[in-house]
Amino acid sequence: MIYTLALAWLGLASQVSGACPRALLQEATAAYVSAQTSGKPLLLPLAPNSTYFENDVSLSISKGVLSTSLHIDINRSLHDTTECSTFTELTAATNKRPYVIHTRMLFSTADASSGSGSAEKLTINTIQSVITDEGDWVFNATGHLYWFSLEKWDVIPAGKRDTRTTIKAAADAYLDSWGDSSVKVPYGASCARLEGGAYTGTKTTTANTCKMPQFPLPFKIANRRYVVDEEVGAVDVFNDFPFIDKVRPEGTPSSNLLRVEGGGIRHVHELTVCSTKGCGR
Ligand SMILES: *[C@@H]1O[C@H](CO)[C@@H](O)[C@H](O)[C@H]1NC(C)=O
Ligand SMILES: *[C@@H]1O[C@H](CO)[C@@H](O)[C@H](O)[C@H]1NC(C)=O
Ligand SMILES: *[C@@H]1O[C@H](CO)[C@@H](O)[C@H](O)[C@H]1NC(C)=O
Repeated sequence: MIYTLALAWLGLASQVSGACPRALLQEATAAYVSAQTSGKPLLLPLAPNSTYFENDVSLSISKGVLSTSLHIDINRSLHDTTECSTFTELTAATNKRPYVIHTRMLFSTADASSGSGSAEKLTINTIQSVITDEGDWVFNATGHLYWFSLEKWDVIPAGKRDTRTTIKAAADAYLDSWGDSSVKVPYGASCARLEGGAYTGTKTTTANTCKMPQFPLPFKIANRRYVVDEEVGAVDVFNDFPFIDKVRPEGTPSSNLLRVEGGGIRHVHELTVCSTKGCGR
C-alpha cells in the first residue's frame, strides 16, 4: 500500500515558497521519526520504486534498521524546500543497542486532484542513512545526546539568515581545508564539533575549537550530497571520508552537519562509519 502526504494547497499557498512546501517536508520528517520509533517504514509515503541505502549499501527497507523499533531520545531535522529533500539526526542513546543516525530523504512532487481542489503530494524516492553504533569513529551515543541537547539550533530571524550559497560554501570550505590548510574557513568566534560522541568544546565554549589539521595528501572528500535549510542556517553533507578507515582508504560513509550563524560556523556534528573497530586506529 502506498501512503501519500496531502495537504490543501490553496490555504497554504500564501506561506509557501520554493519548489517544495516546508509544511509537507515537516510532515515527512515527523513520519520518519515515527516510523523509526515503531519500526514500521510503511508509515512513510514511499514511491513504488523507492530505494533505501544504509552506509552506501542498497538493501530492502524491510531488512534495514528502519524496520527495527528504536527508542529515540532526541531528533532534529532540516527541510530543503529548494531541492525537495530532508535531513534528520536521531540519537538513540537509551535504546538497548545505542545508535546515532543521519538520514536524508529525497522526494518527488506530484500535483493531484482532491475533493477540495488542487493538492500537492510528496512521495519519497530515496532514503539514505549513515548509521553509527559501537565501534564506529569515537562512537558514544550518551555523549552525543548530552552535547546535542545543550546546543542551540533555533530558527534564525528572517532578516538575519544566510543565503543557501553562503551556508553551503562554509561547509565546502570546512571539508576542503582538511586536504588543503590554505583554504580559508569561515569559523564563528566560537565553534565546537561533536565528533561521534566526543566534543571539542568541553573546556571552553567561547572559542573556535573546530579547526582541523590537514590530512596526509592526496586528500579529497568526494561524493558530497547536501541538504540545506536556511531557516536554521544549517547544511548536512553526506560524503566519503578518505584516509580515516584503514580498510577503506578510498573513503568511508560519513556525514557532517553544520550550523552557520552570520556567515560563521558555530556547530559541527560528524558521524563516520568504521568497517573495523575504531577504523583500525
Ligand atoms: C521512480 O519513478 C518515477 C516516476 O516514473 C521517476 O520519476 C523517478 O525517477 C523514479 N525514481 C527512482 C529512484 O528510480
Ligand atoms: C522529535 O523532535 C520533535 C521536535 O523537537 C519533538 O516534538 C518530538 O517529540 C521528537 N520525537 C522523539 C521520538 O524524540
Ligand atoms: C560517553 O560520554 C559521556 C557523556 O559525556 C561520558 O560520561 C562517558 O564517559 C563517555 N563514555 C566513553 C566510553 O567515553
